[in-house]
Amino acid sequence: MQHIHSKDIFYLLRDTLKLFDRRPIVHGGKVAYYVYMMLKQKGQLEPKSRLENFELADIIYLATFHDIGAYKTDEMEQMVRFETKNYQPHSLYGQLFFEKMTTIGDLSKVILYHHTDYAVLSKMGFDQSELTSYINFAEAIDIFKQSLGAKFSLDIFKKNVGTKFSPEAFDLFLKADKEHDLFERINSRAYMDEISEVMDFFIMTNEDKEKSLELLMFTLALKSTIIIDNAAVCVALCEKLGALMKLSAEQKKDLLYAAYVHDIGFIAFRKDWLENPPDLSTAYLDKLSQHTLLMEQLLKDRIKREIIVIAATHHERVDGKGYPRRLKEKQMNLSQLILQFSDAVAPMMKQEFDKEELIAKIKRQTEAGQFSQAVTKLFIDKFDEIAIDTKVRSNAMLNHFKEINRQYEKSIKETDI
Ligand SMILES: [Fe+2]
Ligand SMILES: [Fe+2]
Ligand SMILES: [Fe+2]
Repeated sequence: MQHIHSKDIFYLLRDTLKLFDRRPIVHGGKVAYYVYMMLKQKGQLEPKSRLENFELADIIYLATFHDIGAYKTDEMEQMVRFETKNYQPHSLYGQLFFEKMTTIGDLSKVILYHHTDYAVLSKMGFDQSELTSYINFAEAIDIFKQSLGAKFSLDIFKKNVGTKFSPEAFDLFLKADKEHDLFERINSRAYMDEISEVMDFFIMTNEDKEKSLELLMFTLALKSTIIIDNAAVCVALCEKLGALMKLSAEQKKDLLYAAYVHDIGFIAFRKDWLENPPDLSTAYLDKLSQHTLLMEQLLKDRIKREIIVIAATHHERVDGKGYPRRLKEKQMNLSQLILQFSDAVAPMMKQEFDKEELIAKIKRQTEAGQFSQAVTKLFIDKFDEIAIDTKVRSNAMLNHFKEINRQYEKSIKETDI
């Protein structure tokens, strides 16, 4: 059976980032719609350049997340500023993030140049310059419309057509707007249904889907790099323990996917609480338990039910003292017990640790009723093999991400942005 449909991956990513901050995604959704309508208009005028629906779906995906870099590099309160003046950081980070983490990395340069003036762009010999110039113009429309409100008119762009903005993009937008009243479709939210219809044609291979769920996990890294270290070790531990416990291929996949997504609810969490958890006050504990419920809401009807069931119990404990539902061991399956164990043990394994101390601690916690006896026994019996494999696998995942940060810092220094 399908673990997740391609279209649901798009919506899951969109809604997860919306919980981080909705502004870049709402903006991205409108930009995606404008670009889509410009391309459709072009297809009507020049049938040879008409794109297939699956190509349009990729472009909608790209355009929706074109400002993803800003989650890492900018304060959202400064959106007008980073979209009009200081735009290099988010363009550069966005390009690197897209290239390394998404399945449409070959389009990532569009992100890098999405603020480049048309006059420069058109002379660069860049093969995606047309699409980039459409995003560039669509983006300006939305930013200026947001800032100027009722005073906004397309006439304000006229003097910059041919220099800042593509004449073709301007022309196509004007024609599309005349025919379809694009701003009205945005206001009435009808545009969302049109986008949804195209996204029915979004296609991902199983490999792409797995990479995209890993990407979903890495959206947390845009907020905090500390939390992502634990998440990667947890995924690696789940994989190793699932294999040693001889889960079926289907169960292993469910467990892996659950491990990727189990903490995405943390995206709505305060950054300082993620990095330095406060004392266990009631306010903090209330918030803490919400991250699993938020994750369930995000995943509901979007991913295979068994995956949600596993992810939803990652803070339950075998003695019934976990949260949010206080389930007991007999109410849970082996995959759930593995994820609980891995999630709790991952932070203990991420840095240099003393093997004897670690094992003693896990034994104590298991005897106190926290973890499954069977999972703990296997972990201790095969400790050396598990520790090495987990380190190799989690480092491979994290290195990808660290490379983005390394390249970003290097480029920022070189260009003195
Ligand atoms: Fe931007
Ligand atoms: Fe933008
Ligand atoms: Fe959690």
